[in-house]
Amino acid sequence: MKISKICCIGAGYVGGPTMAIIAQKCPHIQVTVVDLNAERIGAWNDTDTANIPIYEPGLAEVVAEARGRNLFFSTDVAKAIDEAQMIFISVNTPTKTYGSGKGMAADLKYIELCARQIAAIAKDNKIVVEKSTLPVRTAEAIKSILDQTGNGVQFQILSNPEFLAEGTAIQDLLAPDRVLIGGDQSEGGEVAVQALVDIYANWVPIDRILRTNLWSSELSKLTANAFLAQRISSINALSELCEVTGADINEVAKAIGMDSRIGPKFLKASVGFGGSCFQKDILNLVYIAQSYGLTAVADYWEQVIILNDHQKRRFAKKIVKTLYNTVSDKKIAFLGWAFKKDTNDTRESAAIYVADDLLNEYAQLAIYDPKVSRKKMLADLDYLETRTPEENARQAKTFEDPYVACKDAHAIAILTEWEEFRSYDWQRIYDDMQKPAFVFDGRNLLGKSLLERIGFVYHAIGS
Ligand code: NAD
Ligand code: UGA
Repeated sequence: MKISKICCIGAGYVGGPTMAIIAQKCPHIQVTVVDLNAERIGAWNDTDTANIPIYEPGLAEVVAEARGRNLFFSTDVAKAIDEAQMIFISVNTPTKTYGSGKGMAADLKYIELCARQIAAIAKDNKIVVEKSTLPVRTAEAIKSILDQTGNGVQFQILSNPEFLAEGTAIQDLLAPDRVLIGGDQSEGGEVAVQALVDIYANWVPIDRILRTNLWSSELSKLTANAFLAQRISSINALSELCEVTGADINEVAKAIGMDSRIGPKFLKASVGFGGSCFQKDILNLVYIAQSYGLTAVADYWEQVIILNDHQKRRFAKKIVKTLYNTVSDKKIAFLGWAFKKDTNDTRESAAIYVADDLLNEYAQLAIYDPKVSRKKMLADLDYLETRTPEENARQAKTFEDPYVACKDAHAIAILTEWEEFRSYDWQRIYDDMQKPAFVFDGRNLLGKSLLERIGFVYHAIGS
């Protein structure tokens, strides 16, 4: 089966970059990305690709190359569904905030809406691809909704989870470690899997395209995120032990990472992991285990989240304790708000929670991030509903110039590992600060010896 028209529902951090690369690598396929959010689609269509809604190195260039040729962004969801032979569902699957499973289960209402809309519109056979991260066995629910149409249309459901990381999305998409495709093990299922394999085979070596059954594919995505996050919680747990024993977490990470069975990646101690997925996907895994009655399994994975919350909280506590047990009315500069470098995404960023704890202590925050807007920073704080928006705006000021943000500060907290922070004139920053001048490096980004030579009191994670 040759695919010439595909549609992707959801023009977010996954749908946008993924479809841009498919369009770039498959000029013979028309790719339409649709979204209900007209503002987001408007930004994807901005004549200046510097204004596309997602900051991701290399993305603007890919969009500039393919947009208008075979890559289109639209709010006309129905038309795109009608025309496509293959439909990717790439909508958000956040943690439920209400009802049963509140705070743990994935909220599948957006997925269900997509399935219902596809069922209502489809007049010919379609392949529906789960691109969103979903609980194991969701394909069954989607299939049951689609099969209610009663108009003879045949649907094949595939699971094709996305493994890109923000900030490196383009290189991850261009050279993925693997592409995972789960499908029904019937003749129709195999034809559908092959159709999707043929798309990726335009640029991904065939031995990196992995075929599994639907449930293995769905569960592998949650598992991959759980394993990655578990490594961070493991190293962060040890960072606290390093701080009291005189061991250095960077040295420990290097020493254990050189064991090829452990490997060096994802062993950077930090103020805690953030991002839209690790927490939500592990909570979802815990919920699934609980719902099968597997309490020991659920408790095991939940500990990854508990440790991460502890790591964020203890960073804030350390600031307060070091600043003579009070930060009331003290200016604390935040360098970084995004959950990692090279993205404008702030979802679940550790910075939000550290800020909230310090605001509870009546600190005055001065926040700078090279890619995050003031509006977004305040919205993140307001979302927690710890205090009124007016109070947040009064206590948390945002700055476009890091030197102004740090001026007269009692302490600087590094929350994101932006490269530019390394090249700042740290002598100038020191000269303009209150003394003693403290730096709390939540990313172990800056050189301890340089900062201490200048005169800073420098606190890193895990040493
Ligand atoms: P996102 O919030 O950035 O984008 C989702 C988009 O879907 C939004 O723009 C929203 O308006 C749109 N949408 C929701 N319901 C819709 C509907 N019925 N019709 C049309 N549009 C609709 O989310 P994201 O970060 O792109 O994540 C999407 C999925 O991919 C999630 O399941 C996530 O777990 C998974 N994922 C994310 C990443 C990542 O790095 N962000 C990586 C891998 C997997
Ligand atoms: C993560 C996974 O890496 C992707 O494979 C996956 O597709 C994605 O989640 C998803 O499903 O959403 P992402 O959250 O974009 O990607 O970014 P990561 O690079 O994984 O970083 C997540 C968080 O962990 C960041 O806050 C980062 O700073 C932190 N981190 C990462 C550490 O604290 N230490 C490390 O060693 C690595």
